[in-house]
Amino acid sequence: GERVVGGPSILSADFAHLAKDVERTKAGGAEVVHFDVMDNHFVPNLTVGPAVAAALVRATDLPVDAHLQVERPESLVPAFAEAGVASITLQPETALHLHRTLTLIKDSGCEAGVALTPATPPESLRWVAHLLDYVLVMSVEPGFGGQRFIPESVEKVRRVRELYGLPVQADGGITPVTAPRMVRAGAQVLVAGSAVFDGGDPERDMRKLIEAGRS
Ligand code: DX5
Ligand code: ZN
Repeated sequence: GERVVGGPSILSADFAHLAKDVERTKAGGAEVVHFDVMDNHFVPNLTVGPAVAAALVRATDLPVDAHLQVERPESLVPAFAEAGVASITLQPETALHLHRTLTLIKDSGCEAGVALTPATPPESLRWVAHLLDYVLVMSVEPGFGGQRFIPESVEKVRRVRELYGLPVQADGGITPVTAPRMVRAGAQVLVAGSAVFDGGDPERDMRKLIEAGRS
């Protein structure tokens, strides 16, 4: 079947040992690091910024994707590009001038993606789709790990694939149970935090998730 990519979300990793946790998921087959940035405004949670991203970029050879769950993401794009992330994922709900901010990301040499919260329709991307390298479908509301998978997301993945044919990442409540449903609908990248890090063996659980997605 289709190629399935594992993307561990650092949100559920040990922030004091990020590089070590990431390397363990890499041993389990991870191919991209999902780096959740939260500002306590767009979402009621606070994580890490460009300085930590730069340190992680230096510590791993996996590409790092910055998922910006912040207000005014445009002001952070230069710092994340400078930090060396491979791609930047925006919440279109926060980008007042989405076209300009996506262009800024591309001009900074990064790949650009958007993350759709559960209520945001894929159709809203019609006039910026040509600027996108991928679309991330959120199957939970942004803000926290360990939330329950929203089942309508499966149909949404299918719709995004139908409309744009772009690669799709699935993020939120992705487990060995939900992963195959998202892959069958057309998702290629499985982003997962709690399913990978909460069981005490990120290598094993990363491998399990990728295998489930391929099954
Ligand atoms: C939520 C984040 C996710 C989060 C997923 O705002 O975007 O990346 O880490 O966590 P799980 O996999 O536990 O649902
Ligand atoms: Zn995320």
